[in-house]
Amino acid sequence: MHSDLQLDAAYWNGRYTAGQTGWDTGAITPPLRDYFQQLSLPRTARILIPGAGRGYEAEYLHTAGFENVFVADIAPEALRDLHQRVPGFPSGHLLEQDFFALPTAPTYDLIVEQTFFCALDPSLRPSYARQCAALLRPGGTLMGLLFDTEFAQAGPPFGGSKAEYEVYFAPYFDLVHFAPAYNSIKPRQGKELFICLKRK
Ligand SMILES: C[S@@+](CC[C@H](N)C(=O)[O-])C[C@H]1O[C@@H](n2cnc3c(N)ncnc32)[C@H](O)[C@@H]1O
Repeated sequence: MHSDLQLDAAYWNGRYTAGQTGWDTGAITPPLRDYFQQLSLPRTARILIPGAGRGYEAEYLHTAGFENVFVADIAPEALRDLHQRVPGFPSGHLLEQDFFALPTAPTYDLIVEQTFFCALDPSLRPSYARQCAALLRPGGTLMGLLFDTEFAQAGPPFGGSKAEYEVYFAPYFDLVHFAPAYNSIKPRQGKELFICLKRK
């Protein structure tokens, strides 16, 4: 399975400028919000949200007092939106960079996933798992949501299953939690896995 589209910065930025952002929930989603509310990391923890789009999770964490929240996205329009909405968010933490080219030092304590993995060409999935592992310190966490469904139309988004995903992550992570989400937003109910993976 792979995409015939060139899923590059021009493609994604064009989706934002054209207002074709069906994935954008306009606010933090309950699974991530509930997880963040019980997050026991220090406020200085380094947190990365790759393919963050307009970055509602980054806004939430920043507002909660986390000082080292970074977003990485190849679409400048998405980062501009976050910058305008949350002027206090450090502009040096808005990384207009390809996730796969992000420096792996210093490492992060936490990586947050939501509708980034499914936006990538599926051929990149093994590299996604490898890059998340390289970006995290040992014991660090990759958490978030993965689709547990197949989509009728050609992607993005690209679907998949738990059995498929586990193969990518198991070499680098202990799969602490990898189960259907119980608090997805309505259109995604029954179609998402909540993951919490610990870097080996
Ligand atoms: C489907 S959107 C999801 C955005 C956001 N996570 C959300 O839930 O609203 C996918 C995002 O990934 C970004 N993206 C795609 N490929 C990327 C890459 N290689 N590196 C960084 N960002 C990328 C796109 O620009 C887009 O903002």
